[in-house]
Amino acid sequence: MSNDITGNSLLIVWHSRTGAAEAAARQAYKAAQAIRNELGEPHRNVYLKRACDVTPQDMLEAGAYLFCAPENLASLSGQMKECLDRLYYPVLHRIEGRIFGVIITAGSDGEGALRQLRRICSGWRLNEQVPGIILNMRSDTEESILAPKTLSETQQQQAGEIGATLFALL
Ligand SMILES: Cc1cc2nc3c(=O)[nH]c(=O)nc-3n(C[C@H](O)[C@H](O)[C@H](O)COP(=O)(O)O)c2cc1C
Repeated sequence: MSNDITGNSLLIVWHSRTGAAEAAARQAYKAAQAIRNELGEPHRNVYLKRACDVTPQDMLEAGAYLFCAPENLASLSGQMKECLDRLYYPVLHRIEGRIFGVIITAGSDGEGALRQLRRICSGWRLNEQVPGIILNMRSDTEESILAPKTLSETQQQQAGEIGATLFALL
């Protein structure tokens, strides 16, 4: 798939443990696809990829990025961090000025993960044209934290708006 990604594409990268960040990524993907169809844009595409599958080539070939991941233990989830650690130097200085968005899912906070992701993206000199958001899943007991998650309608809308806006900005 990476060979198909072009500089006019939005790449949505996700990691999720209990489903919230994955649902947000899928919602953003759906909304970006809807704008693409509405505008009849054969040359601009949107791709959805698990963090562990993203390659440096995928990053180089996309024009905009959306990172969706949970906050775990006050940080970005380990798999999203591993993805960014793996990609950081292979694409450093080669993606400057491209745009990005962030969706962090959290039980009650999310600020640590958002800050961390922004810091990594600022190292890449990416441009946060669509302000990142935290989706608060209100899970603060062991049971609710480990339970599968679904997004509220408002959260679905928020995720969709980010996907659609990033696509429109390409
Ligand atoms: C190991 C672990 C650590 C977590 N640490 C935090 C945390 O530091 N802050 C927070 O707000 N939520 C924390 N949470 C809650 C998750 O961020 C929340 O459940 C979110 O919905 C997870 O997104 P996901 O469903 O995409 O995995 C933690 C969850 C797990 C499993």
